[in-house]
Amino acid sequence: MATMRAVEVSSPKGPFQLVERSIPEPGVGAVRVKVEACGICHSDVMTKEGLFPGIQYPRIPGHEIAGRVDALGSGVTGWSVGDRVGIGWHGGHCGYCDSCRRGDFVTCQIAPQIPGITYDGGYAEYMMAPAVALARIPDDVSAVDAAPLMCAGITTFNALRHSGARAGDLVAVLGIGGLGHLGIQYAAKMGFTTVAIARGQDKAPLARKLGAHHYIDSQSTDPAAALTKLGGATTILATVTNAAAMQAVIGGLRINGKLIILGAANEPVAVTPLAMIGRRISISGWPSGSSIDSQDTLAFSATSGIRSMNEVYPLAKAPEAYERMMSGKARFRVVLTTQ
Ligand SMILES: NC(=O)c1ccc[n+]([C@@H]2O[C@H](COP(=O)([O-])OP(=O)(O)OC[C@H]3O[C@@H](n4cnc5c(N)ncnc54)[C@H](OP(=O)(O)O)[C@@H]3O)[C@@H](O)[C@H]2O)c1
Ligand SMILES: [Zn+2]
Repeated sequence: MATMRAVEVSSPKGPFQLVERSIPEPGVGAVRVKVEACGICHSDVMTKEGLFPGIQYPRIPGHEIAGRVDALGSGVTGWSVGDRVGIGWHGGHCGYCDSCRRGDFVTCQIAPQIPGITYDGGYAEYMMAPAVALARIPDDVSAVDAAPLMCAGITTFNALRHSGARAGDLVAVLGIGGLGHLGIQYAAKMGFTTVAIARGQDKAPLARKLGAHHYIDSQSTDPAAALTKLGGATTILATVTNAAAMQAVIGGLRINGKLIILGAANEPVAVTPLAMIGRRISISGWPSGSSIDSQDTLAFSATSGIRSMNEVYPLAKAPEAYERMMSGKARFRVVLTTQ
């Protein structure tokens, strides 16, 4: 039987292990994808540390996948072997729950499918995915460039395009990591007056290069006061992993302003009802998007010249690559390649 290399987590909090696995055969409605690149998202911590309920181990992480269709399962139409495809966090849905019947596949409540969580993901040479999870990659976007757009890209792009902010509004991106550095580019290209907020001064020049019109160092200044001085933010996109950092910017929202939480912190964000009422502010969360949202993200990124800044590692060095992401030192996305 033909085999492939894959990197799996054998148990919650266990080490990554490079293993040989048999190459999977696609079932009904699924395709086999030859993985070319897979981004390492901070959410991979959920598989590594066993933080997502019900994960079955061993599990191959990875939900920022770019590759080519390698084989079609029965019943798959519209895709051909060799097509360039991406797969993100939203890796399939039940199709019959109330959310799915409304076309809101991302909030599928019965059988949400997530590569790297509910089925094996992209830290491998091949993987299986339902055909409904595929997004088409434009010719001029390489696999390494496409991979991070499948989670870090779509999540920030989709949250911003649904934020209600209009061209010229002040939009702040809190945190400049994998998500944040793409969020800055999308916000600037969407025509918002874009503010980047991060800890320390070292990211300031890069933030400006990515399109930020203003930079706030949250360590040397109170970020809420600094935003207020700029007129107050219509939208703050919180990409940080830390709830206290989100809490610290809420006072910088203008009237009707909205904090959109993307960072998967597990602690509470405290806010007084009085502060919310007086300025009619709101706090909401946003989960990635569907495969067509991924395709929109790829197309917008291609036409607007938006790219992830990547540090590339070979698949076998996944443990080192993951540590690099966790260190916060990567500028800004770590991507594995199978070549
Ligand atoms: N909602 C969704 O659908 C979705 C999708 C993907 C990821 N996520 C989540 O989004 C978050 C970011 O993911 P990522 O891949 O961009 O991670 P990343 O590249 O590791 O970046 C982490 C970010 O968190 C900030 N940070 C870390 N520790 C902090 C602290 N103690 N105080 C303040 N800020 C801190 C860093 O801020 P500085 O820039 O100041 O260093 C950096 O911007 C994760 O929680 C991830 O699970 C959510
Ligand atoms: Zn992710």
